[in-house]
Amino acid sequence: MVIGGTMFRPWFFLCVVLLFVSSKPCFSIGSDTLSAAQRLSGSQTLVSQGSIYELGFFRPGNSLNVYLGIWFKNFAERIEVWVANRDKPLSDPSSLKLGLSEDGNLVLLDSLSKTLIWTTNLVSPPISNSTEAVLLDDGNFILRNGSEPSTIYWQSFDHPTDTWMPGAKLGINKLTGKTQLLTSWKNSEDPAPGRFSLQVDPNGSSQFFMVWNMSRIYWTSGVWNGQRFSLVPEMGSNDIFNFSFISNERETYFTYSLYNSSVLSRLVMEQTGQITLRLWLANLWNWKFFQASPADQSAVYAFCGAFGIFNVTSLTHCACLPGFVPLSPNETQRLNDWSGGCVRKTRLQCESNISNRKNDGFRKISILKLPPANSKAYPARNGKQCASACSLNCSCTAYAYNGSGCSIWDGALLNLQLSDGSNTTQNLYIKLAASELLDVGGAKYPSEDLLVFDFDGSSNATDHETNARYNLTRGKKNDADLPFFSFASVSAATDGFSSSNKLGQGGFGPVYKGKLLKGQEIAIKRLSERSGQGLEEFRNEIVLIAKLQHRNLVRLLGCCMEQDEHILIYEYMINKSLDFFLFDPSKREMLDWMTRIHIIEGIAQGLLYLHQYSRLRIIHRDLKASNILLDDEMNPKISDFGMARIFGGNQSQANTNRIVGTYGYMAPEYAMDGIFSIKSDVFSFGVLLLEIVSGRRNTGFYHSNSLNLLGHAWDMWNADRGLDLLDPVVNCPSSLMLLRYINVGLLCVQENPADRPTMSYVVSMLNNELALPPKPKQPAFSTSRTVEDTNPLLSNEENCSLNGVTMSLIQARW
Ligand SMILES: *[C@@H]1O[C@H](CO)[C@@H](O)[C@H](O)[C@H]1NC(C)=O
Ligand SMILES: *[C@@H]1O[C@H](CO)[C@@H](O)[C@H](O)[C@H]1NC(C)=O
Ligand SMILES: *[C@@H]1O[C@H](CO)[C@@H](O)[C@H](O)[C@H]1NC(C)=O
Ligand SMILES: *[C@@H]1O[C@H](CO)[C@@H](O)[C@H](O)[C@H]1NC(C)=O
Ligand SMILES: *[C@@H]1O[C@H](CO)[C@@H](O)[C@H](O)[C@H]1NC(C)=O
Ligand SMILES: *[C@@H]1O[C@H](CO)[C@@H](O)[C@H](O)[C@H]1NC(C)=O
Ligand SMILES: *[C@@H]1O[C@H](CO)[C@@H](O)[C@H](O)[C@H]1NC(C)=O
Ligand SMILES: *[C@@H]1O[C@H](CO)[C@@H](O)[C@H](O)[C@H]1NC(C)=O
Ligand SMILES: *[C@@H]1O[C@H](CO)[C@@H](O)[C@H](O)[C@H]1NC(C)=O
Ligand SMILES: *[C@@H]1O[C@H](CO)[C@@H](O)[C@H](O)[C@H]1NC(C)=O
Ligand SMILES: *[C@@H]1O[C@H](CO)[C@@H](O)[C@H](O)[C@H]1NC(C)=O
Ligand SMILES: *[C@@H]1O[C@H](CO)[C@@H](O)[C@H](O)[C@H]1NC(C)=O
Repeated sequence: MVIGGTMFRPWFFLCVVLLFVSSKPCFSIGSDTLSAAQRLSGSQTLVSQGSIYELGFFRPGNSLNVYLGIWFKNFAERIEVWVANRDKPLSDPSSLKLGLSEDGNLVLLDSLSKTLIWTTNLVSPPISNSTEAVLLDDGNFILRNGSEPSTIYWQSFDHPTDTWMPGAKLGINKLTGKTQLLTSWKNSEDPAPGRFSLQVDPNGSSQFFMVWNMSRIYWTSGVWNGQRFSLVPEMGSNDIFNFSFISNERETYFTYSLYNSSVLSRLVMEQTGQITLRLWLANLWNWKFFQASPADQSAVYAFCGAFGIFNVTSLTHCACLPGFVPLSPNETQRLNDWSGGCVRKTRLQCESNISNRKNDGFRKISILKLPPANSKAYPARNGKQCASACSLNCSCTAYAYNGSGCSIWDGALLNLQLSDGSNTTQNLYIKLAASELLDVGGAKYPSEDLLVFDFDGSSNATDHETNARYNLTRGKKNDADLPFFSFASVSAATDGFSSSNKLGQGGFGPVYKGKLLKGQEIAIKRLSERSGQGLEEFRNEIVLIAKLQHRNLVRLLGCCMEQDEHILIYEYMINKSLDFFLFDPSKREMLDWMTRIHIIEGIAQGLLYLHQYSRLRIIHRDLKASNILLDDEMNPKISDFGMARIFGGNQSQANTNRIVGTYGYMAPEYAMDGIFSIKSDVFSFGVLLLEIVSGRRNTGFYHSNSLNLLGHAWDMWNADRGLDLLDPVVNCPSSLMLLRYINVGLLCVQENPADRPTMSYVVSMLNNELALPPKPKQPAFSTSRTVEDTNPLLSNEENCSLNGVTMSLIQARW
């Protein structure tokens, strides 16, 4: 607790105590003594003989409350060392009277209301005209027999507030069990007992504890060895302070003195939860701060209060967690008083309606270490189970899952410390009402560094491994947890978006290949300027899209939103896209029949998931061969899904300046009237299926009488020459199977959306070798003019208009 003497010896000799000649205050009763007959009131004060301390009524800071206290005399700034009525504030000093009562106690009375504010509370004090109250030069205020000054009935030293004076004892009375504590002020304007206390070990050992809320020990001095405290090594042996530990049958206590008794010191239990040590350096006209314990403020228990977070770089040191605000914002701001902690901006849904847990979700924060209090372990195998354990319990406020297990927190979150960017970062998921999850403007989080990010696995993984990896990944990371990367790191991963890393130019912007430090490759889509959608909407869409996980969908790994940049990061597909093989004369042969079947089925499964089994019901709107990516095992993965959502519902907007979709794959009702539905995706799927089977593009088809591949297929089908459609580089093992595929393809491209099958029907027809699919009608676009005058369209509500009015946004489950 004390700085080594050798180091500070030079300082020490410079210490000159200010002992000004007492300039008598106008209202001072001119003495250090209050006799039995005298009363102290209003602005009257007692001044110790050497004019070092003063006792009287004061108002702390800007507070209107009045207290009786002792402070250093003759300092510009009033520094209180003792307060009598710390938790009984008064408003008017003129009606207050301090004096001896008839029962022999020293009392503070409010003469207006005739109420007793404070008393020395002695049980049977002597009643005598010779009793007097005296303020001594060591700051002790005593009640004694004036005829025999060594007989002290009561002294303020036995009832410290937040300051331990030299010569005062701090300990426990073994007979009464009474413990002396230093307890911090609540804040700089309120001397009421605050959160932090210093006391000796109630069990009698020679060590100090610092205690939070009278219940939790957060700092220990270690035992006193006669020279120093074992856990305060920096104290050393010194020439300034003389600590002593005394233990006998009656009491156990520490006391201290200064070797030079004319030096002023302050040993204070601060509102910051630290005990500080200051000496008055007269030559510097300043209180020299010597030491604080614990030295690290973040070691103070609940320093920032409930749901507060310690931010070492911030001047205030504390902030509220996202979604929380200070309990009393004005006070917190003015006094930097975080003792009240923070409260939710928005109540959890489950608090108002227990069956409504789904509208609460989690937000990730990166912190230095997990909060030590109020947590318990939960046996979860993965992050999802951990999250769900917390969701199910309304009083659960947060969870954390790492490789070694799941912890959930009940009640207040204390001792959170913002990650300083070191590698000991922990992720904590805080439960918030859904509406708070949408608010990203309020809090900025450190974005991740893409270059060193661990995506848990490589893109070389086999199918089985991929599955296992997904299971593992889900466990490791909550799937709501989409990493946001810094633009700098994304740029670094692509060599500054160099053209040599450009993989292609999609409808929504260029795609680059990126490389992480460990060698893992990723695909980076840099979206062109968009409009119409707010940042939060955009973020929400991305988070929703990232939750769509299926083995036939390209996985969205993260994103970056910075400097007007909107970048999506995907897993990298080593074999590029389907068109790269299918329409290349030399590579086409690599796609044998089984591979083609595998690709068609994969696309069908992926589309089925988008249409039917995902929570969002995504209409792709731009399904085509170049949007089907292939991994190292030629597993197809649909890319660019959800782009319509990400870009906002209305695709006729100026930024794309076109209807989303690609001619040749677009259903007639979409191409001509801008009406899209899951059936327009089915149309595109049908085109794709016929392309895969035939190895030819639908467009740019110059064959005999037919306008395009669809017309050609229709002609061949009607001429019973369906088998001739097969790509000549492929051997088909089963003509029945081939015809079934072509049949399904033709059903998908029928003119009327209502006639087209759903994807689930498509999947069942592809797989059913026994049942014959229905007979197709003539495809759209197969002749030059086929658009029907009136189109009844679909009767079901799956139909959407371009305005996106009926496109239902399913509330995300966080
Ligand atoms: C004690 O401190 C006073 C004031 O700083 C100084 O004048 C005096 O010389 C000191 N005494 C000793 C013995 O160091
Ligand atoms: C104390 O003083 C008061 C007034 O000065 C006097 O009336 C009273 O008798 C004295 N009491 C004692 C015990 O001396
Ligand atoms: C105060 O001290 C005097 C002198 O020793 C003594 O006569 C008197 O009884 C004491 N008063 C009380 C109340 O003990
Ligand atoms: C005090 O002693 C009791 C009984 O030995 C023990 O349970 C308790 O933990 C001790 N308290 C502290 C603060 O060491
Ligand atoms: C502090 O302790 C009191 C009494 O034990 C308790 O009621 C209160 O909830 C505690 N405060 C906090 C913030 O835990
Ligand atoms: C230190 O304090 C103790 C107890 O108050 C006292 O006995 C001792 O003489 C002091 N030591 C010095 C060097 O002043
Ligand atoms: C931490 O404090 C610094 C400095 O005031 C500030 O820039 C930063 O935004 C704070 N971080 C958080 C998460 O509040
Ligand atoms: C807090 O401060 C704001 C703005 O300064 C003021 O409008 C509001 O009344 C204050 N609230 C309280 C409770 O003092
Ligand atoms: C509670 O939530 C459930 C599910 O959202 C809802 O059905 C029920 O009506 C709600 N109850 C009240 C009282 O709001
Ligand atoms: C990460 O932590 C390890 C072990 O604590 C340490 O050795 C290493 O220096 C740290 N690295 C960085 C970059 O902080
Ligand atoms: C992925 O495959 C490439 C080429 O076969 C190989 O060089 C690389 O080491 C593999 N990466 C992992 C993580 O297995
Ligand atoms: C991954 O999880 C799915 C669904 O829970 C399960 O069917 C599959 O077998 C798991 N894969 C592996 C490799 O564990």
